[in-house]
Amino acid sequence: MTHKIISYTTFSLCLLLSLSPFVHMHPFAYSQLDYNFYDRSCPRLSMIVRYNLWAAIRNDTRMAASLLRMHFHDCIVNGCDGSVLLDDTEDFKGEKNALPNRKSLRGFEVIDNIKADAERFCPSTVSCADILTLAAREAVGLAGGPFWPVPLGRRDGTTASEKAVNEQLPSPIEPLENITAKFTSKGLDIKDVVVLSGGHTLGFAQCFTFKRRLFDFDGSGKPDPTLDSSALTNLRSICPKKDSANSNLAPLDSTNLKFDNAYYTNLVSNTGLLESDQALVKDPNTAAMVNSYSANPFLFSNDFAASMVKLGNVGVLTGKDGQIRKKCGSVN
Ligand code: HEM
Ligand SMILES: *[C@@H]1O[C@H](CO)[C@@H](O)[C@H](O)[C@H]1NC(C)=O
Ligand SMILES: *[C@@H]1O[C@H](CO)[C@@H](O)[C@H](O)[C@H]1NC(C)=O
Repeated sequence: MTHKIISYTTFSLCLLLSLSPFVHMHPFAYSQLDYNFYDRSCPRLSMIVRYNLWAAIRNDTRMAASLLRMHFHDCIVNGCDGSVLLDDTEDFKGEKNALPNRKSLRGFEVIDNIKADAERFCPSTVSCADILTLAAREAVGLAGGPFWPVPLGRRDGTTASEKAVNEQLPSPIEPLENITAKFTSKGLDIKDVVVLSGGHTLGFAQCFTFKRRLFDFDGSGKPDPTLDSSALTNLRSICPKKDSANSNLAPLDSTNLKFDNAYYTNLVSNTGLLESDQALVKDPNTAAMVNSYSANPFLFSNDFAASMVKLGNVGVLTGKDGQIRKKCGSVN
């Protein structure tokens, strides 16, 4: 038995080694990431990130949500390469100011502060992509969610594309099948859609992102019939019809400062905020998962940690690809 296992392992190892040039080219490859990547080159890194996150959240409790979201937006658009952090240049219009991100993504200055500290202790060593990944992990932990080990060694991309955001980032008003297709094209699956949407246990959404549910759902002139009626009344008071209310903020779940499973219990009681959230209980492919996460917070915590590692591995640059930016907002 033992012999069988060893020879199987040896066989797989040989297979892996012989394929390694191709592994390198594979869009979902992440075998080069390493849990101990900065242990020698920047041993203080996790403390630097943790301290900065603690201070940023103490000043602004929403910052945990904002940094979790920023990591998602980095990874889902051309991989976790820190491209979302790049300012526009003469050569490219980047992700940061693309329509879904402009006046919506927050926390760039927190990442810049962490980067400045990292440069002080370990110059030209730590990528902005890794900082954003660690920041998202700390944000969840400090908001009361799970902690998970993060494989590191991502390198920073040298370009960013506004068009890529518009093509690859899921929209809150597109059907679940389309959102799922965007995830699967990145090596994620439908379970990751359900689990990672649970990130909406934190933070806020601007009224315009779900407003048609309140007043004119799908051109019906009526509200979304699946939205709970007292939730409707409450959301209409936060988001009156007038355009000047479009950027008012509504909480994404009923306990939006705490990382818990209330997002799923809200979905079960038809008080999910975004169409893309509430869609998860309407689809037979995802409803059972929503029910089990609403019943079992530990199951959600564990699965969220696992899906975050998968998300953090999407399209990473490693080895000699990309660069270690000196400042997160611009290429070297
Ligand atoms: C599944 C497709 C998703 C869609 C369509 C979506 C859409 C949105 C929208 C429209 C907002 C409000 C933005 C604004 O009003 O400015 C938002 C906020 C947020 N999203 Fe998502 N999202 C998705 C997945 C995710 C994932 C996978 C995560 C993280 C794991 C995430 C984390 C967040 C967080 C934490 C916020 C609140 C940010 C803050 O308060 O600053 N979202 N999302
Ligand atoms: C604290 O948070 C506010 C927003 O709520 C922000 O404008 C300010 O720059 C933050 N201050 C520090 C020191 O992070
Ligand atoms: C969903 O995806 C299909 C196939 O790619 C596309 O034709 C359709 O326009 C998309 N729907 C929305 C609302 O984005």
